[in-house]
Amino acid sequence: MITLFEDREALAQAAAALFTEQAQTAVAACGRFTVLLAGGETPRLTYQLLAQEPHRSQVPWADIHFFWGDERCVPSDDPRSNALLAHTALLDHVPVRAENIHPISCDKSPQHAADAYGVELAEFFDGKSPRFDLVFLGLGDDGHTASLLPGSASLDEQLLWTAIAKRPEEDFSRVTLTATIINQAAMIVFLVAGSGKAQVLRNILCGSGHFYPAQLIQPLSGDLRWYVDSQAGSLLGELSGSLTKMETPGSN
Ligand code: 6PG
Repeated sequence: MITLFEDREALAQAAAALFTEQAQTAVAACGRFTVLLAGGETPRLTYQLLAQEPHRSQVPWADIHFFWGDERCVPSDDPRSNALLAHTALLDHVPVRAENIHPISCDKSPQHAADAYGVELAEFFDGKSPRFDLVFLGLGDDGHTASLLPGSASLDEQLLWTAIAKRPEEDFSRVTLTATIINQAAMIVFLVAGSGKAQVLRNILCGSGHFYPAQLIQPLSGDLRWYVDSQAGSLLGELSGSLTKMETPGSN
């Protein structure tokens, strides 16, 4: 399901509303809500909105477990850290339980971080299949998601839930969850904004004969949603019949 929003603010509002709704439903049904947070800049506004009313007082924060889809192996106070992004925008401003925050800790080697996170996930899901209630994902302009990077070995990983990756232009490694675990989620939502994503998004959603890592994200039984702003969705004209266009109130 592809939903087109006027702008990134409307996209973030909708993503925050979805988080709140899914969290309330999951906690009411089974006493907890497990969410996989995306890194990068796009989700920042969604996280900030969740820390504000009306969401702040509506979300059952104490019953939510926060995990990350990927992390850059940088110091925890490095502005490139995905965990720092989530803390700065959201987690430091709402009454979450510290023990329910599960960062990917790269204090030793990247491989150690990946192995340790895999163990933590197995223990958390108590040896059962790890089914996140909600997964937020971003999309890179090269079609990567999380840190499932083009050409990386992690794309072929069928068994392990975590892997390491490295972009040649970066001086740090990354730890990523693999499609194997992400695809077990109940709901996966891509948050895609900005004109720089228009071509890759069109190629992914309309087909181009080229393979992109984001195309590995095919939930086994869960719901896959694309939240796209008008700039990122500007080349999706041929999908107009299958797009849901959300008009910003008062915009017409
Ligand atoms: C990361 C992210 C990555 C991100 C995309 C989009 O750690 O880099 O997890 O997958 O979501 O690169 O990033 P932007 O939202 O900044 O465009």
